Amino acid sequence: MRIATLGAGNIGGNLGILWARAGHEVVFSSRHPEQLDDLVAEAGPNASAADPATAVADADVVLDALPFATSLGLDPDLVAGKVVVAAGNYYPGRDGEIDLDGTTQAGAIAARLPDSDVVKAFNMMAANVMRQHIDDGEGTGAVVFVAGDDPAAVAIAEQLVRDSLFTPVVTGDLATGAGFEPGTEVYGKRLTEDEARRHFGLEDTP
Ligand SMILES: NC(=O)c1ccc[n+]([C@@H]2O[C@H](COP(=O)([O-])OP(=O)(O)OC[C@H]3O[C@@H](n4cnc5c(N)ncnc54)[C@H](OP(=O)(O)O)[C@@H]3O)[C@@H](O)[C@H]2O)c1
Repeated sequence: MRIATLGAGNIGGNLGILWARAGHEVVFSSRHPEQLDDLVAEAGPNASAADPATAVADADVVLDALPFATSLGLDPDLVAGKVVVAAGNYYPGRDGEIDLDGTTQAGAIAARLPDSDVVKAFNMMAANVMRQHIDDGEGTGAVVFVAGDDPAAVAIAEQLVRDSLFTPVVTGDLATGAGFEPGTEVYGKRLTEDEARRHFGLEDTP
C-alpha cells in the first residue's frame, strides 16, 4: 500500500518504520519534512519524506498521527477519498477544551472528514511497544483494537496492524471506539487476543 503519515513523531515515525519494513511505500510528513532524514534512513528504501499535501496526494491510506486538536483542523479535501487511520487521542491538557458534540473522539474526526473512510486504530498502544517491535524485529503478541464503519477500510487497518506486528481485534463500528479511548480499562494495556475479545464480549478467536 501507499501510506502517508500525517505526523512523524512517536506514532507516525514508529509505525512508518514498521510498515516500510513490511514492504509498504511510506511517505512521512510533518511541518518540517527536511528534519526527517534520520527517520527516512532508519525506515529504509521504501520510505521518503514530504510536506503533508505532497505526502497524501498519491496515498491510498493516511495515518493521522497528529495532536488531536490539529486533526480536527485538517482540510477535508486533503484526505477526501482516502482511508484515514486515526491514531490520535484527545487530551484536554494538551489539546485545549474541545466540545465533541456528543460523539466519540474518532467520531469527531469522521465528522470533520466526511469524504474519507475513518478507522480508529493504534490509539491505545504506547509508542514504546511499537519501538520494541522495531528493535526486536518481532511482535509482542499485544492487541491493537480497530473500529470503523466501512468494512473495506477496516480490513485495510487490520492488515496494517498485522504489518506492524500487532494482533488486530475489531470491536465494531466507529462508535465502539469509545471503548478504547483514554480513561477506559483497556487503554494503554497489552492484552492478549483472548483477553481483548472477552473484554468486548466478542466471540472466541476464530
Ligand atoms: N506517544 C504515544 O505513546 C501515543 C500512543 C497512542 C496514541 N498517541 C496519539 O497519537 C498522536 C501523536 O502522538 P505522538 O506521540 O506521535 O506525538 P509527537 O511525537 O508530538 O508527534 C506529532 C507529530 O505531528 C507533527 N505535527 C504537529 N502539528 C502538525 C501540523 N499542523 N501539520 C503537520 N504535522 C504536524 C509533528 O511534527 P512538526 O511539529 O515538525 O510538524 C510531529 O511529527 C497524539 O494524538 C497522541 O495522543 C500517542
